[in-house]
Amino acid sequence: MAPAKLGLAVFISGSGSNLQAIIDACQNADFPAKIKLVISNIPGAYGLERAKNAGIPAATIPHKDFKNRADFEDALQKELSNYDIDLICLAGFMRILTSEFIEKWPHKIINTHPALLPKFGGKGMFGEHVHKAVLEAGETESGSTIHFVIPDVDKGEIILQRKVHVLADDNIETLAARVLEQEHIAYPEAIRQIAQNLEHDN
Ligand code: GRF
Repeated sequence: MAPAKLGLAVFISGSGSNLQAIIDACQNADFPAKIKLVISNIPGAYGLERAKNAGIPAATIPHKDFKNRADFEDALQKELSNYDIDLICLAGFMRILTSEFIEKWPHKIINTHPALLPKFGGKGMFGEHVHKAVLEAGETESGSTIHFVIPDVDKGEIILQRKVHVLADDNIETLAARVLEQEHIAYPEAIRQIAQNLEHDN
């Protein structure tokens, strides 16, 4: 009897290209996970279209509709409680989760960061800010980091990293695009590793 697949909830805020990479990986019968829910904090995020096209239940929970972070996160938890979720995957999700939320999901939230943590991480290091900082620092390499989420932003245990060279003529766009390519490989691989480790632990 094949072990049950890891139930994933994927949180997005935008394009959802990392979500798409996970959707595509789940098409393989031997991939040890299944996306049960997609949540976007941004109405109309293209990632919602990707979920719809893949027949995956999706919810839009706009953080702007709530008077504070706790109420927003209560709405997230309520939606999650409707599904059997083993792992929350932050994929281009642009909100910082509180320690109260994270502590309800110990070692069960992962995130993709578009740089080689522990370098170029922390609050405010989102999207193009990261690549700008890497270029300004004159780094010769960058890449994608998939890590567990703890209250201290971008400081959780690293699961895996995939590197890219920083080219002399790189700008933010070209570097971001090359890192994104590696994220799309790293994210499903990290999920596979977590599922396999959990199987071994059981
Ligand atoms: C990615 O580079 C991710 O690291 C960052 O947002 C970018 C877009 O992600 N957090 P996606 O296309 O929405 O998955």
